[in-house]
Amino acid sequence: MGKARSAAMCLIIIMAIICCATATESPQYTIIHSESEFEIRLYESSVWMSAPAIDISFEKATWNGFHRLFQFTQCANLNFSRIRMTSPVLTTMVPETGPLGSQGYYVSLYLPVKFQDNPPVPLPELNIKPYDFDSHCVAVRKFSGFAKDERIVKEAEKLDRSLSRSPWGESKSQRGYSIAQYNTPFRIVKRKNEVWVDIHAPEFGCQLVGVAAY
Ligand SMILES: *[C@@H]1O[C@H](CO)[C@@H](O)[C@H](O)[C@H]1NC(C)=O
Repeated sequence: MGKARSAAMCLIIIMAIICCATATESPQYTIIHSESEFEIRLYESSVWMSAPAIDISFEKATWNGFHRLFQFTQCANLNFSRIRMTSPVLTTMVPETGPLGSQGYYVSLYLPVKFQDNPPVPLPELNIKPYDFDSHCVAVRKFSGFAKDERIVKEAEKLDRSLSRSPWGESKSQRGYSIAQYNTPFRIVKRKNEVWVDIHAPEFGCQLVGVAAY
């Protein structure tokens, strides 16, 4: 336990150094609608790395998936490439993909532009793979603080409510939500998080895309 703890701590420290030393890259989008409670973004196509993680807890699944993605960025790939941390860390809830119909998650990390066309090949034991994040729209609600299990459910409900009071409610996908986290656990104040849900509104250029399968 002590060893695992200090390894985890070390990981967090390295992560903080890497992340904060340079400007982090993020996926590109345009805002196509904005109001006080949410905004609609159209993301460009890009390649991410994605780690399936089965756990009841969103927090535990995120940590598990992130840990594997982090190793991948730190040379745990067949190309010995060192990959700069990007943001956000995106945890997507996928209903009924876990054992006995429970919820599963994908934890995903956008690849820096340098690696977009030719992603380094992850070590097989990491069980992660490249994921084509096709151009599509998401409704986004921002929230600060820490993305804890109870908190994210409430934020997802709030997004749901404000969408249903708007014309965008009808365009909401029935699939699960994603939580985007932009800061390391070290940052205490002004933490930036978001809850996302896919939007299908072809009249605004928002096509719905398929979700990756386990
Ligand atoms: C990474 O390594 C794999 C396997 O050796 C190779 O097929 C691939 O082309 C390499 N990618 C890059 C970016 O060098």
